[in-house]
Amino acid sequence: MTKNSFNEPTNKNPLLVLNGDTRNLIKEIPDNTIQCAITSPPYWGVRDYGIEKQIGAETDLNDYILNLVSIFSEVRRVLRPDGTFWLNIGNTYTSIEISWPLFPFRANVA
Ligand SMILES: C[S@@+](CC[C@H](N)C(=O)[O-])C[C@H]1O[C@@H](n2cnc3c(N)ncnc32)[C@H](O)[C@@H]1O
Repeated sequence: MTKNSFNEPTNKNPLLVLNGDTRNLIKEIPDNTIQCAITSPPYWGVRDYGIEKQIGAETDLNDYILNLVSIFSEVRRVLRPDGTFWLNIGNTYTSIEISWPLFPFRANVA
C-alpha cells in the first residue's frame, strides 16, 4: 500500500485492516485522515510477543522511548484536527516488592 493507494473507509467499504509493523504501516497513511487512534503498546522488557523487532524488546530504555515517540509523531500527523489519541500504558510495574519504571515520566494528558 502507498499513500496514493490508501482508500479512506466509506459506507460501502467501512473497514480497512492493516497488519504489520506499525512503524512502517503508519507512514503509508495520509495526513489528517484518522479520527481516533487507540493503542496499548508493549511495556519495556516485560513480554515476548514472538514477533521480529517487537516494540518493548529494545535493550536500551531510550530506544524504547524513541520507538514510541516516533510512532506517536506519526499518529499526530495522521490524526484529523478533531481526532483523539488514547494511550494505555503503565508508568511502573512491580516485581518482588520493587517498582520499576516503564515510562520515564508521568504524562499529563490534556
Ligand atoms: C500489550 S499488547 C496489546 C494487545 C492488543 N491491545 C489486543 O487486544 O490484541 C501489545 C501488542 O503490540 C504488538 N507489537 C509489538 N511490536 C509491534 C510492532 N512493531 N508493530 C505492531 N505491533 C507490535 C504485540 O505483538 C502485541 O500484540
